Amino acid sequence: MKIRFASVVLMSVLAPAGFGEIRYLAARKLWRLEAGPVSYIIGVNEKNELQSIYWGRRLWRDDDLAAAHTNSEWASFDNYGNTTPQEYPGWGGGRYIEPCLKVTLADGVRDLVLHYVSYNIEGETLRIEMKDISYDLGVTLEYRVFPESGIIRKTATVHNRTRAPMTLESAQSGAWNLPRGEGYRLTYLSGRWAGEWQINREAIHPGMKVIESRRGNTSHQANPWFAIDADGRADEQTGRVWFGALGWSGSWRLSIEQTSHQQVRVTGGFNPFDFGYVLEPGQSLETPPFYAGYTEGGFGEASRILHRFERVNIMPGGATARLRPVLYNSWEATEFAVSEEGQKALADKAARLGVERFVMDDGWFGARNNDRAGLGDWTVNAQKFPHGLGPLIDHVNHLGMDFGLWVEPEMVNPDSNLYRQHPDWAMHFPDRPRTQERNQLVLNMAREDVKNYIFETLDRLLTENPKIAFLKWDMNRNFTEPGWPEAPAAQQKELWVAYTRNVYDIIDRLRAKHPKLEIESCSGGGGRVDLGILQRTEEVWTSDNTDAFDRLRIQEGFSLAYTPKAMMAWVTDVPNFNGRSTPLAYRFLVAMMGSLGIGGNLNRWSESDMDLASRMVELYKSIRATVQQGRLFRLFSPRDSGFTANEYVSEDGGQAVLFAFRSAQDFGYPPPAVRLSGLDEQAVYRVKTIDHKLAGVTETVSGAYLMNRGVDLRLGGDFDSTAVAFERQ
Ligand code: DGJ
Repeated sequence: MKIRFASVVLMSVLAPAGFGEIRYLAARKLWRLEAGPVSYIIGVNEKNELQSIYWGRRLWRDDDLAAAHTNSEWASFDNYGNTTPQEYPGWGGGRYIEPCLKVTLADGVRDLVLHYVSYNIEGETLRIEMKDISYDLGVTLEYRVFPESGIIRKTATVHNRTRAPMTLESAQSGAWNLPRGEGYRLTYLSGRWAGEWQINREAIHPGMKVIESRRGNTSHQANPWFAIDADGRADEQTGRVWFGALGWSGSWRLSIEQTSHQQVRVTGGFNPFDFGYVLEPGQSLETPPFYAGYTEGGFGEASRILHRFERVNIMPGGATARLRPVLYNSWEATEFAVSEEGQKALADKAARLGVERFVMDDGWFGARNNDRAGLGDWTVNAQKFPHGLGPLIDHVNHLGMDFGLWVEPEMVNPDSNLYRQHPDWAMHFPDRPRTQERNQLVLNMAREDVKNYIFETLDRLLTENPKIAFLKWDMNRNFTEPGWPEAPAAQQKELWVAYTRNVYDIIDRLRAKHPKLEIESCSGGGGRVDLGILQRTEEVWTSDNTDAFDRLRIQEGFSLAYTPKAMMAWVTDVPNFNGRSTPLAYRFLVAMMGSLGIGGNLNRWSESDMDLASRMVELYKSIRATVQQGRLFRLFSPRDSGFTANEYVSEDGGQAVLFAFRSAQDFGYPPPAVRLSGLDEQAVYRVKTIDHKLAGVTETVSGAYLMNRGVDLRLGGDFDSTAVAFERQ
């Protein structure tokens, strides 16, 4: 089998800048936030409260817009606060909808009614000041528009300007009100370890659907992303879709509510469960960013908007960030049995395949021979690496690869020197059992001393080994017994917020001090993937499930919300999860739909495996700009049938790559014809196949044919696969 696409010129052409502006229409007390194709309009009503007016396709005429007016009360059971779309409601004044802010004041008052005070516009940012009707509790709402994508970011900052402490019991980033009506449908992501990124679709009915993490991190079980389509009619290509995501890696919550007045709203921010944040006089709390957008191009366009937004506006390096290198990771090959010689041997083989980054996973430090000991002791294991990491790193570098290392800084095994010295550093409640998971406890990163110790430890590791180019930052359990006995009792619940803030702080400081360092976020697979961690890491580990067939669905779910560039996908050995075996070419092609990695035990790969693998890596390098930075079209979903097809089109339209997979052939039928998307109908494309599975089409073909007639693929039997590249002439 010949596997080679002609090399392509790597050209990333940015979409033309959208038109973004924020204006205040003074006569009507309205703010028009224009984010490219999207308008978002807020007003101050006659009660001096903030009201949501509109969110959807861009409007152009100021005169169409009436000033905000409260709706009348419906009955003595539902006052205007429940019938009028609230932009940032406090809990008080007879509102029964989900509040954005709930507070207990020092004198026991638990009523909060926020009134508009002032505003300020600076470029693409609007700040609105609000204040309680009698207490000096202020809230700054910040809105930032991103005109290229139509995305708007909301954050809220609560200020205690009174002379006494106050306790926040719920602090949400904001609420997104959809056009009033019924028949909406919610799409969200759920899962578990090794089964993340499952897609759920369900009708929105009166009441509230909560998706959340109470676990201290983002979680495998749910992800802080949503999409809502009108009339339940959107598909991949068409339909009105409102979508959004939180940038927070701690406990979070999204409440999708349909009120009894047909108002659908999504409220999101810190999870109010076990939340209690004391603001001393003069203190403030800023909520996580909550991003949201709107499209009429269905779920496919919603994903493409997010992918580009993440790459350009969220992730380190932005639009000019380099492509992800092809990576090798030792975990599935050696688990804890790492050694200098063993890793060098793997590195030799990885280099032969064209791998660009060699990552040594767990097992290199302390007494880490299994998962029962050593976590917390970040010193090189002298039996396994008698001369430190230097010789291995040099060896890897001489082979032309850079070197990466696994760490799990937030954790400690009770059987470790760190725990013996500082048992109080683990999260716990005094004199109560400490639940171990994977034989480990969570360090209380909310503590400043623990935070500083972890920063210094990692900083030392990177300073002593300046050639470490990459850290895989793992987190293999959730919180239990989230106690913080050293803090005053009233403030102990702040741990939920302080922990994540401090993890962010460590990463930010490490990156500032070691500017070339790249980081992968991992939490036993995809347990920490969100727009908060993506702001600080180049990539994420998608799932510990590397079974290529399961991966099709895992990767599809991931791609609804997150860019393929960040999605690490390894080729591993078979039989894999589920005891399933798939061909090596199939495993490669599945992994090549994200950021390619190899995680098999190369010592067991035959010469023909190695040969196929090097050709696949070479092929990947010729298409990775398109895969990582292009526009993804999910043509056939693995959830619908045994046939899956995805297409990636480069931003300049010069290259399109089609991947297709058939899990099982039935009754001798061929797979359906695949009609491509996102091409230029008038253009002619040169066809590059990696095998002989493209039927009918020969050397060149028009965009019109590809998008309307489509291509036939010779895929049969079980776990067959192919890839085809189309390059515009
Ligand atoms: C969980 C990660 O997801 C794996 O890839 C591996 O790094 C192990 N932890 C190591 O303990």
